Amino acid sequence: MMSNIGSYEQRLKNFDWSVSEQELGYKKGDPINIGWYCSDRICKMGKGSKMALIWEDFKGNNKYYTYDDIRTYSNTFADYFLKLGLKPGERICIFMDRVPELYISFLGILKMGGIAQPLFSAFGEESLLTRLENAKTSAILTQLKHVSKVRRILKQIPHLRHIIVVDAGTTALKEREIPFNMEETTRVDKFEYYKTFADTPSVLHYTSGTTGQPKGAQHVHYSLISQYLTTKWVLDLQPDDIYWCTADPGWVTGTSYGIIGPWSNGVTQAVLDSGFSSDRWYAFIEKHKITVWYSAPTAIRLLMRDGTEIVKKHDLSSLRHLCSVGEPLNAEAVLWSKEAFGKPFHDTFWQTETGSMVITNYPGMNIKPGSMGKPFPGITATVLDPISFKPIAQPGKVGLIALKPGWPSMFRTYWNNQAIYDSKFKNDWYICGDRASIDPDGYFWFVGRDDDVINTGGHLVGPFEIESALLEHPAVAESAAIGKPDPINMEVVKAFVALKPDYEPNDDLELEIMNFIRKKLSPLAMPQEIAFVKSLPKTRSGKIMRRLLRAQEWNEPIGDISTLEND
Ligand code: PRX
Repeated sequence: MMSNIGSYEQRLKNFDWSVSEQELGYKKGDPINIGWYCSDRICKMGKGSKMALIWEDFKGNNKYYTYDDIRTYSNTFADYFLKLGLKPGERICIFMDRVPELYISFLGILKMGGIAQPLFSAFGEESLLTRLENAKTSAILTQLKHVSKVRRILKQIPHLRHIIVVDAGTTALKEREIPFNMEETTRVDKFEYYKTFADTPSVLHYTSGTTGQPKGAQHVHYSLISQYLTTKWVLDLQPDDIYWCTADPGWVTGTSYGIIGPWSNGVTQAVLDSGFSSDRWYAFIEKHKITVWYSAPTAIRLLMRDGTEIVKKHDLSSLRHLCSVGEPLNAEAVLWSKEAFGKPFHDTFWQTETGSMVITNYPGMNIKPGSMGKPFPGITATVLDPISFKPIAQPGKVGLIALKPGWPSMFRTYWNNQAIYDSKFKNDWYICGDRASIDPDGYFWFVGRDDDVINTGGHLVGPFEIESALLEHPAVAESAAIGKPDPINMEVVKAFVALKPDYEPNDDLELEIMNFIRKKLSPLAMPQEIAFVKSLPKTRSGKIMRRLLRAQEWNEPIGDISTLEND
């Protein structure tokens, strides 16, 4: 089958984003609304009865939704939000497992001009509080199983006017809570979407940095232009594909490529609302005849660990194209996937902030296992010298990955934090915060992060958030969190803790602190190991030197420690 991108060199020549605008029938200055593009437009093209969503729960039960279903159900959500008194521009949080209501309400929020704020449903109350407080969120959509976390923080977030419970049934609800059942509400067939334009805010995704609490990367409706085209050219979605993106929409992959990309292309997508198991995943591919699969290196390493025997028990011949994102895809994983599935995983690199893929391996392109590939057409990417912030001319030399601002899905600011947004730019380049080199053929090779952010299983966790939560435990006097190497998750969290005078280190206390973090933040942020120490290395100005702890953990050179406190 001919891929959508055809020849990369041809596409690169004279590339202009207007290719995407034309395909979408969008002209500069027109209104543009992602919710409308992902449902109404596809129906207008005569595909209303086409399957948009095949959903499966952990027990293997299925639900099916056509494009006309997602159009009318998202209208129903949009109409309901307006009737509640929610206004365009207000932040509406989606705090749900991967149930159909998550995907469909996302479109509904966008249709009424709201800003969708998806949050990972495994977040504990502290993680939730930080993000709802920062965004001054007006409403949250959730399930009964998660509502207690919202109840516990309710007093601290007076701006949260509505807690919409999508599966309340006959259960009695409490203060500010209201039931809304998507399928039992009269469907709204016609809804005039709020006239959003290219620069109207659409989605707010929180992401972690080295310092301070997580920041909300704010996207706009024009992001569709890159998300649509990268989906078409890199994921190579074609009309008959059945596509599976394994990411949760609490993270950017799950919205850009788990909602907007496939649905704006009018493709059928399948969602599995269940945890990981190799057998379960293969059975899902076999049952729904998945053709295009977008996943992450940690999942691929877990599949590798379980071996090829289990692969042979399933008919996976429907698979046509495989892609990966979130962490370095090691060469072994690419080679293994060729052996196991007869096809390589194609690595793609991007970030919450970039909104869409920026460096990728295209279908048909020669893959160099271990490389992230080349910039997508329309993306100017380079590596910069870390001191002069000038592009490095010499192939193979490591520098900071940097992008020329201006692609359609670039984030527009960090919510309420313009200063940190501004600090991400040097010499008119956007600095990603990662290190890489470029080989003589123009392929990018990832080296590592350029900051203290921990990447565990493809999810970024901020050390500051963990350290702040640790300090809330009565036994903890000082703390530092770093990533330690892990064969499956690439990194897991390791915490260094100095105890208050009345406490003694022991296994029970270690377990108690781990669980404390799991409940407050999330299972991802939970330290897998706690090292009890007398004190932590600090600079003379009192800042904890995580860099030193990390270098010791990774057996790397310690570097300049001239600012280390020496008393
Ligand atoms: O460090 C890079 C790593 O994940 C970071 C972005 O994380 P996030 O904003 O959560 O978005 C993840 C999904 C788009 C990057 O700065 N990363 C992402 N993709 C790759 C990667 N590291 C190596 N190789 C990749 N392909």
